Amino acid sequence: MPIRRLGQHVGEVVTVRGWVTHLRSSGKVAFVVARDGHGSVQAVLVKADVTPETWDVFARLTQESAVALTGTVRADARAPGGFELQLRDLTLTGPSPVDYPIQPKEHGVDFLLDHRHLWLRSARQAAILRVRSEIEQGIHDFFYARDFVRVDTPILTAAIGERSGLFSTAYFDEGEAYLAQTGQLYGEAAAAALGRIYTFGPTFRAEKSKTRRHLAEFWMIEPEVAFADSADNMRLQESLVVELVARVLDRRRPELEELERDAGALERVVAPFPRIEYTDAVRTLQSRGSNITWGDDLGAEDEALLVAGAERPVFVCNYPKEAKAFYMKENPADPRTVLCDDCLAPEGYGEIIGGSQREDDHDKLEQRIRAEGLPLDAYQWYLDLRRYGTFVHSGFGLGLERTIAWICGLQHLREAIPFPRMMNRLRP
Ligand code: 4AD
Ligand code: MG
Repeated sequence: MPIRRLGQHVGEVVTVRGWVTHLRSSGKVAFVVARDGHGSVQAVLVKADVTPETWDVFARLTQESAVALTGTVRADARAPGGFELQLRDLTLTGPSPVDYPIQPKEHGVDFLLDHRHLWLRSARQAAILRVRSEIEQGIHDFFYARDFVRVDTPILTAAIGERSGLFSTAYFDEGEAYLAQTGQLYGEAAAAALGRIYTFGPTFRAEKSKTRRHLAEFWMIEPEVAFADSADNMRLQESLVVELVARVLDRRRPELEELERDAGALERVVAPFPRIEYTDAVRTLQSRGSNITWGDDLGAEDEALLVAGAERPVFVCNYPKEAKAFYMKENPADPRTVLCDDCLAPEGYGEIIGGSQREDDHDKLEQRIRAEGLPLDAYQWYLDLRRYGTFVHSGFGLGLERTIAWICGLQHLREAIPFPRMMNRLRP
């Protein structure tokens, strides 16, 4: 019986399976609190009511012992969750030695990360993973409702998508293969076949930076839409972000409470999000004391400074060409810039989405590939998309862990993914 369903079985005898979190005994009455991944329940064992064998099992229980608890469900307003079990049988199904590494005290984060496989059992980490799963489902539902087709793109690739660091591996007789930094280029090919697509998969960046906003392996959601321009693209991003936040508020309140997340800040996330041109953003930043100059990408500090005080995410649009990837479309109104946007989350979380209209002019794109020093032969297939029926199209990449960190109010991305991969962390 899952603990979350106990309320529907008051008065009945049921068996709950789970792991022990707390133990307490007065000598005549003993209490076992167990969790099963869905909830937590207190079970009461009265010495006079059970066999001596059952009573003796209690003495062998430790934190994290796996147990089967059989007893009558009783409503009790004082019990955590509102129900408790009056035990008639107690079985120790998986003993746990007393040296369980994670104790109810402060542990350093490196220690916790070394024990990530056990740390996941904490209420806080479980709450984060539930919110993560809710957001993932929300993303699938959002796109499904809008007739997008999910397309899975390769992880082993020959063409490079972004400028950040690459993981490479020997690939048979084909030379070097790179772990995908993005599925976008393949997503563009699929958009010409299916109209509206999205990818949902792991992406890899060998970035030698130990920041709280970077993982070596992270999950990205990349929609690509045929006949959509940059303005359409931002509207789609806005709808997605608003819907995800609303869904978590609607369905994951207990988890947000466990995380002590200020739900009020999330409730203020409504459309429309402000749109600021890069050139104006630079002026604002300079007036706020930043030493950014026109042409630079926005650093984490600039992003925080620009969004300071904002209650909603902010779009910064049309960055200088040099600051962005080769595939972005030149801005006809100012060819020094490209038609793109970064969506910056409030409360200092910074970029959660990068998006753009794609360069659909064959010659301009080829020129940009050359200028970036990329191997032209690896991009012939990508140029084909501009040879055979080129089309206006746009898309974006939403960083899943950045979005989770913001919605959950986490300080660091490492808690937003079950088993984080960072420069100095490959285990567990
Ligand atoms: O801005 P980025 O590099 O954009 C792309 O990869 C495009 N191909 C997306 C597209 O247009 N289809 O990355 C997109 C998002 C960022 O906004 C950020 O949220 C996340 O991916 N991201 C990372 N998340 C965690 N760790 C890293 N090292 C990240 N790098 C990017
Ligand atoms: Mg970006």
